[in-house]
Amino acid sequence: MTHESESGLPIEPVYGPEALAGWDPAERLGAPGAYPFTRGVYPSMYTGRPWTMRQYAGFGTATESNARYRQLIEHGTTGLSVAFDLPTQMGHDSDAPIAHGEVGKVGVAVDSVDDMRVLFDGIPLGEVSTSMTINAPAALLLLLYQLVAEEQGVDPARLTGTIQNDVLKEYIARGTYIFPPGPSLRLTADVFRYCGAELPRWNTISISGYHMAEAGASPAQEIAFTLADGIEYVRTAVAAGMDVDDFAPRLSFFFVARTTLLEEVAKFRAARRMWAEVMREEFGARNPKSLMLRFHTQTAGVQLTAQQPEVNLVRVAVQGLGAVLGGTQSLHTNSFDEAIALPTDKSARLALRTQQVLAYETDVTATVDPFAGSYVMERMTDDVEAAARELMLRVEDLGGAVRAIEQGFQKGEIERNAYRIARETDSGERVVVGVNRFRSDEEEPYEPLRVDPAIEERQSARLALLRAERDAAAVESALAALKEAAKGEANVLYPMKDALRARATVGEVCGALREVWGAYEPTDAF
Ligand code: 3HC
Repeated sequence: MTHESESGLPIEPVYGPEALAGWDPAERLGAPGAYPFTRGVYPSMYTGRPWTMRQYAGFGTATESNARYRQLIEHGTTGLSVAFDLPTQMGHDSDAPIAHGEVGKVGVAVDSVDDMRVLFDGIPLGEVSTSMTINAPAALLLLLYQLVAEEQGVDPARLTGTIQNDVLKEYIARGTYIFPPGPSLRLTADVFRYCGAELPRWNTISISGYHMAEAGASPAQEIAFTLADGIEYVRTAVAAGMDVDDFAPRLSFFFVARTTLLEEVAKFRAARRMWAEVMREEFGARNPKSLMLRFHTQTAGVQLTAQQPEVNLVRVAVQGLGAVLGGTQSLHTNSFDEAIALPTDKSARLALRTQQVLAYETDVTATVDPFAGSYVMERMTDDVEAAARELMLRVEDLGGAVRAIEQGFQKGEIERNAYRIARETDSGERVVVGVNRFRSDEEEPYEPLRVDPAIEERQSARLALLRAERDAAAVESALAALKEAAKGEANVLYPMKDALRARATVGEVCGALREVWGAYEPTDAF
């Protein structure tokens, strides 16, 4: 009986040579590290360097999060990844009324350069690569990070890391947007230009499919809508007068790894091949680095269960294996307790140990793209690619990613798939171990990590002190200069940096931009 994959594609019980009749490995695969990069972006992949073990972390004030980062470094993490709280992500200060109850909750509260300094206290920024999951105010957090690196004496040419900076997917599936699409895309292009001139090793964007997947997107929808967003960003930068090879090498991507390992590996391989072709054929990119889809993966949060949470250790191991077999450059493995609460020190360590077992106890790092030539894998890679191309054409027919977002296309497609998954789970057709089958009554005692409620007051007191100490006139004139730049064509990151250096807060800088650009109102088309 033919099984149906997450993208609705057939998975045959047995494959044979007929599955690859007429299939040309030279054209469809290429060599690892060479166009079309199906087999991976680097010739040696993990035989040269293991993927970056980059655990997403952050909660409370900068002090608590700094302690967690130091602990992760001690346990062997090889890249940092900052989770910010919602007020920071939405461009509000911790003492703003709208921030009440959210300060330090889903990530770390960062209001100013003072907090960024504490966040990275004792961590040499010239020697780590730091990802920051921040979108609408991504430029601000990048500049705060650079200001602290400057205080540490780090050469900006050495500074490396990533800002997520992908607001288009926020309109589709996550919601931490601030400005309307036009100013948001302008700000994205300003970041590309600024980093090209000032921070050449910084990855300027992490074009994300993860959150669309978590909202219910299938693998084909995930890569189709992500690559369509990527095309929109490239078009924006080219329209702003930038040469594609000046910024494309520093674009990056972010996908999910589901438990359905075979289709996930096929998805990653198809995405690399599609992006390479788009960059060469549509944008005429010539630098091989412009054609390489380098990506980070996070195991599927939505597949974690609160029931029998230890079973999540197995899911995360399978999902992590899929990301590695698919050639990820960077990986976050979820902690087994994340369906219940923030990870404890122990569960965060176990999540990292899972990656270390994959990297150092298995043999999947001994050879590049081990599935190459496999009947099922090559068939599925072609099938996922074909399904994704069809969806990308529909986005294109609607006028591109932004126009399609305004018509609710991506959101509608994802919601329909999410409904299908929910229906299959409720009926038991889709097995979720411990939830709709193999349930168990006796639950292990579990003590979740709790965020201290006094954090909000402490953070507000820090802000009051900052405002009392700083040169108010200097902040005022820096914010006025920023507003002038936002009204014109100049790159806003330069006056923005001056304001942040003068200790303007995240809320004040975003407030100045809201005054000029306005705030996005969703046009829910349903
Ligand atoms: N051969 C040759 N060179 C190699 C190599 C090999 N085999 N492997 C690696 N390298 C080189 C690379 O070329 C690179 O050199 P460069 O810096 O000079 O370019 C260096 O080694 C580092 O390698 P990578 O760039 O491949 O790995 P990084 O980890 O530095 O970067 C990335 C990976 C995907 C490009 C980057 O964008 C990244 O780190 N992204 C992370 C994004 C992230 O963590 N997001 C978290 C989101 S959490 C979230 O949103 C979910 C929440 O909301 C729930």
